Amino acid sequence: MKAAIGGIGSYVPEKVVTNFDMEKLVDTSDEWIRTRSGISERRIVDNNTATSDLACEAAKRAIAAAGIEAKNIEAIILGTATPDMLFPSTACLVQSRLGINKVMSFDISAGCSGFLYGLGIAESFIKNGFDNILVIGAEILTKITDFTDRATCVLFGDGAGAVVIKRNRGASGIIASYFSADGSNWKLLQQPAGGSRIPASIESVKNRLHYIKMQGNEVFKLAVRAMYEAAEKTLQKAGIDGEAIDLLIPHQANIRIIEATAKRLKVPMDKVYINLDKYGNTSAASIPIALNEALEKGRIKKGDLILMVAFGAGFTWGGVLLRW
Ligand SMILES: CC(C)(COP(=O)(O)OP(=O)(O)OC[C@H]1O[C@@H](n2cnc3c(N)ncnc32)[C@H](O)[C@@H]1OP(=O)(O)O)[C@@H](O)C(=O)NCCC(=O)NCCS
Repeated sequence: MKAAIGGIGSYVPEKVVTNFDMEKLVDTSDEWIRTRSGISERRIVDNNTATSDLACEAAKRAIAAAGIEAKNIEAIILGTATPDMLFPSTACLVQSRLGINKVMSFDISAGCSGFLYGLGIAESFIKNGFDNILVIGAEILTKITDFTDRATCVLFGDGAGAVVIKRNRGASGIIASYFSADGSNWKLLQQPAGGSRIPASIESVKNRLHYIKMQGNEVFKLAVRAMYEAAEKTLQKAGIDGEAIDLLIPHQANIRIIEATAKRLKVPMDKVYINLDKYGNTSAASIPIALNEALEKGRIKKGDLILMVAFGAGFTWGGVLLRW
């Protein structure tokens, strides 16, 4: 019995913000952003939009693509670092909006690895008898981005992606996966305030502690190592090497991290799907958005081996290998 993708959908907000727009906000340049990160533009929501709005759009599309109805969904797992609010979970908001039955619904806090962690959990539910599990990665990082900090504000964007995971007796589905985390470097990437450690106060707002704080160059080094480990361990479990992969879909954070990972895995860049030039880093949403786009562009055909790898705040990382 395999956990397979029965349907996929994604959604990004309409508003495009280019690197040239960013030049007007902070001391940066299109050239610096493109060469250091690979990003040219990103999508940004309006003030009235919350993460559940993006998640619902992506989920509706995934449910339609799966050819089922919302009432057939048996669990909702949503990866996000930017929930609508700390509680209730964004998954519960999605459940109520889409008219899904009373089914187990919860968020995962695993940063940019949230969607892959969700796939791993969904696979174990499938093995325990569940069917049609909605796994969503949805994020509005731009609402916790400090648009006066040039080192972070050029990197992030908003969006959502969703899949319906179904039971499958055939060949397609998840073949191997690997997940890990190391909390010892958590300080390198965090949103310090808004939780129980530093609750919201006039001071916390004045000190800009509700925004993402990141030591980019340190995170970069950890990301390269962890993305490779995630890929290598996943492939090892499946008993194959990098050359057998038809498409590598990495978390879209930085083109240099992706290139370094592909090189170590001996996967040529024409087998790596990249769309961070258009969307920036959309955290937990980046892999399902990229997977959906790759499918729409005809980059994936039946029987293909697809390796997805992610790295995120925590730090968390993981890989999922699936046959389409
Ligand atoms: C953020 C990142 C693109 C920065 O690239 P980098 O090559 O590491 O650059 P550094 O942070 O070392 O900064 C180099 C210089 O560029 C400057 N700089 C930073 N942001 C800049 C910007 N937007 N425009 C122009 N200059 C900038 C820095 O101030 C620094 O200047 P200095 O040398 O005078 O001090 C890169 O570190 C990165 O992508 N890190 C990983 C981020 C990530 O993936 N996070 C999410 C994990 S899921």
